[in-house]
Amino acid sequence: MCGIIGYIGDRPACEVIVKGLKRLEYRGYDSAGIVTEDGGRLYIRKGAGRIDDLTEKLGFLEMPGKRGIGHTRWATHGIPNDINAHPQTDCTGRIALVHNGIIENYRELREELLRRGHHFDSDTDTEVIAHLIEEELKSSGSFEEAMRRALLRLKGSFALGIVYTGEPDRLYFVRNESPLVLGIGDGENFAASDVPAFLEYTNRVVFLDDREYAIITRNSWTVKSLDSGEVVEKTVQEVEWTLEMAEKAGYPHFMLKEIHEQPRAIRDAIHGNAGIIRSVAEEIAKYDRIFIVAMGTSYHAGLVAKYLFQRLAKKVPIVEDASEFRYEFEELVDGNTLVIAITQSGETADTLAAMKLARRKGAKVLAIVNVVGSMATRIADFTLYTHAGPEIGVAATKTYTTQLTVLAMLAIELARVLGTADQEYLDELEAELSAVPELVERALRHEASLRELAEELKDRRDFFYIGRGISVPTALEGALKLKEISYIHAEGLSAGELKHGPLALLEDGVPVVAIAPSGKTFDKIVSNIEESRARGAFIISIGDREELGRISDVFVQMPEMDELLTPIVYIVPLQILAYHLSVLRGNDPDKPRNLAKSVTVE
Ligand code: F6R
Repeated sequence: MCGIIGYIGDRPACEVIVKGLKRLEYRGYDSAGIVTEDGGRLYIRKGAGRIDDLTEKLGFLEMPGKRGIGHTRWATHGIPNDINAHPQTDCTGRIALVHNGIIENYRELREELLRRGHHFDSDTDTEVIAHLIEEELKSSGSFEEAMRRALLRLKGSFALGIVYTGEPDRLYFVRNESPLVLGIGDGENFAASDVPAFLEYTNRVVFLDDREYAIITRNSWTVKSLDSGEVVEKTVQEVEWTLEMAEKAGYPHFMLKEIHEQPRAIRDAIHGNAGIIRSVAEEIAKYDRIFIVAMGTSYHAGLVAKYLFQRLAKKVPIVEDASEFRYEFEELVDGNTLVIAITQSGETADTLAAMKLARRKGAKVLAIVNVVGSMATRIADFTLYTHAGPEIGVAATKTYTTQLTVLAMLAIELARVLGTADQEYLDELEAELSAVPELVERALRHEASLRELAEELKDRRDFFYIGRGISVPTALEGALKLKEISYIHAEGLSAGELKHGPLALLEDGVPVVAIAPSGKTFDKIVSNIEESRARGAFIISIGDREELGRISDVFVQMPEMDELLTPIVYIVPLQILAYHLSVLRGNDPDKPRNLAKSVTVE
């Protein structure tokens, strides 16, 4: 996730852009850059760091020109540094562009362009696009045609802002699976990843759809189809958001926005890893002793991975909370060990310590990380990124479901490499995984009824979350979400454990949330629901079988899917329930008491 803002009009472009970038900083903040054009010349300033510091250090506000584009980056390919910051340019320096998204086939394109004599400065996937347009320009009648031809060759997600010195009156903006919206002014026009970037100047907007591009000049705007090049009719809408609302895309809290971003984030996780998962799977296939280390929500992702690895790759990893691993397992780690560290921030002290210990003992370390260039990525031998974009809410949501996505991809590929599961089944599972974003969208539609449920339950003191098999981690994660933002006591446990003690705590009206997808233990959890009901518990069941409706007070119907993928979808209603309980109890879910986003001390 990155932020884009473009301006063309009569104001100094740099002023509009710097303000816009500040408002988009929540979309990424590891580096930033601006290109402006004046007198047929491009001016580019960019670097690693926060926007305020860069504005001062690089003199953003002294850049000339009345058209330009800015970018705030959240790195996906190439560490955050000055060279990888956007804009990126072609060999001639006449085309500059900024990008939000992931180009899946950039390696092949880069190879091809290198063979044709192009010179690359950065490690980004973005730079490929500038060179590809330059290449197409050699045989195209117009810049627009060259741009379109180049973009038709890209696979992946992209929102782009493009400026070309040969056409001094316009800017180009393109959208495919990454957001982009035009701001329509009087004698000036804007484009941005999100409305707040220009809301100070205009509330008249045109939302681009996927595979559309816009040409904006001072006094005009046109939207065309990327595939056909034909003009698309669009309507101007007026938004009535305040600036603060707009920053959260109209959501009252970042957490809710991030919950709703999950379909996009999961798609990016798939696109971003499709090209490299095979080589990582081949590497880890060599190891029999595998530890997975992580804390909190990331630890729960590790627990899901255990089931995926067991069932598909017939490997049983030992999943340990990193704070325990570092003191308990030292003697078992050696050169034949693989340690998989899962960490959103890449800065969690216990996880980093576990990784360092593993490296010291000669183990190979794979990190699954969201923040590019974070400490974990520097300690690890190799890294897979979750591509969720910055998560501002303290409670992990989209970073969890993207961790699960990457782990599912890894388990599927590992099973392919090892030949431990039927290849046809693996192909089907992979196809189903690419449909998970739509399944998450369907799960999100339960929001209104979950809000009503939260209203009914907001004064309850204890909650129990039960699951079996691969749903046990979902129970743990559902309970953690509730505890951390609503401050209600909650326990997550394997449903089989109920009778061994916790059942004594069940009495009239105590909510029991049963995670009950179809699968080999479905009948077992039905019995657990019955035994809880018999003690007067208030049953909320999450599953795909309608019969659950008859034995539950509330039934949240999930779409049918392979049981192995249910953790990615079934957590969504639990996130939403926790969110609304938090808000109804008067808490700020984005900033729960006593908690920090990354725990950098032991
Ligand atoms: C819970 C939550 C925490 C983190 C944990 C690990 O919602 O966010 O439990 O999961 O602190 O953080 P990372 O993944 O950054 O290592």
